[in-house]
Amino acid sequence: MVIYLVGFMGCGKSTLGKPLAHKLLYDFVDMDSYIEDIEGLKISEIFEIKGEPYFRQLEREALEQLSERHNIVVSTGGGVAAFDGNIEYMNSKGLSIYLKMNSGTLLSRLAHSSTERPIFAGKSRDEMAEIIDRMLAEREPFYNRASIIIDGMDIKVYDIIDKIKESELWLRE
Ligand code: S3P
Repeated sequence: MVIYLVGFMGCGKSTLGKPLAHKLLYDFVDMDSYIEDIEGLKISEIFEIKGEPYFRQLEREALEQLSERHNIVVSTGGGVAAFDGNIEYMNSKGLSIYLKMNSGTLLSRLAHSSTERPIFAGKSRDEMAEIIDRMLAEREPFYNRASIIIDGMDIKVYDIIDKIKESELWLRE
């Protein structure tokens, strides 16, 4: 089974993905790190040097490669689900989980985050708030197509495992 964590930047996909994989005895892959390793560049450098469309293509390729693996939790970048029919692709290959979080919470988490995100480079808090509102509105229709939607606030790994096991997709190989 491939389990994909999807959702907006800062919603905790990687933070929760690691212990989730550990408890399930699955491998864990953070898609951004996977792409950085393949390209030998940081995500911010890929955006800067090669542009966003190229990055979205890398995401699709990474998604296809990782989907061939077994027993793996993949934490996807925040844009993956919203491009190129990727959410439908994930649903056809495994189980997708949307970690849902409101824009106010995302803003405070992202404003304090040490991860470099090209989308917010050089932006003030007000500008970030505006970007988050706009992008979340654009992307939520895609995130909402995930197999499981979980309120990302105060979520514990065991709550996610319970939801996964309640899903009939869990038994699919
Ligand atoms: C992006 C999210 C980032 C990273 C890139 C673009 C996006 O991943 O892939 O900066 O478009 O939402 P995280 O969601 O892990 O921050």
